[in-house]
Amino acid sequence: MNENDDMDMPRPVRDSQSEMAEIVLPNDGNPLGALLGGRLMHWIDLAGAMAAHRHSRTYVVTASIDHLDFLVPVHVGDLVILRSSVNRVFHTSMEVGVKVWVENYLADECKHVSSAYLTFVAIDAQGKHLPVPAVVPETDEQRRRYDDAGRRRDIRRLELERRRSVRR
Ligand SMILES: CC(C)(COP(=O)(O)OP(=O)(O)OC[C@H]1O[C@@H](n2cnc3c(N)ncnc32)[C@H](O)[C@@H]1OP(=O)(O)O)[C@@H](O)C(=O)NCCC(=O)NCCS
Repeated sequence: MNENDDMDMPRPVRDSQSEMAEIVLPNDGNPLGALLGGRLMHWIDLAGAMAAHRHSRTYVVTASIDHLDFLVPVHVGDLVILRSSVNRVFHTSMEVGVKVWVENYLADECKHVSSAYLTFVAIDAQGKHLPVPAVVPETDEQRRRYDDAGRRRDIRRLELERRRSVRR
């Protein structure tokens, strides 16, 4: 970051793009040697937070994680790659997409494991919510994700409202 950067200026999606890699070790797996779903969820949260921090340049908390599918099994010894970026900023919250791949370097194979959408809220050291600078999509893929993120937010808000009314 340049010290003259205006903290409120919109930032391109590429500024938040992050990548994380993990080798699946025996402690990450179940007795059959398959990666635990909870461990992958933890890595998804971390990869998502990296993109949210890079974009907002503040502390963030995870407000929600959308539905997750695990499409293919991952095994001890596999290499897991997680790529994340900010899809869209709302006001104090932002949607981050995390795409997970598994690489089996012995078989020279790479497969899509999961796609996750997380919402992070920016906060200061006292926990007060902070506005987040806008994100600027630059490619067709980024513009598609930006548009889709708006639709997902509408669905999330309706669902949140429905759950709150059930709890009352
Ligand atoms: C998430 C949290 C900050 C929301 O606070 P709140 O005062 O209830 O939220 P508000 O209604 O003022 O909404 C603040 C923003 O969060 C968004 N938000 C709140 N709950 C959300 C949810 N369940 N899913 C997605 N976004 C949510 C709102 O849409 C709003 O976004 P906007 O400012 O961009 O429009 C608060 O519930 C919290 O601190 N939760 C615990 C977070 C945590 O500990 N996470 C795990 C460890 S990191």
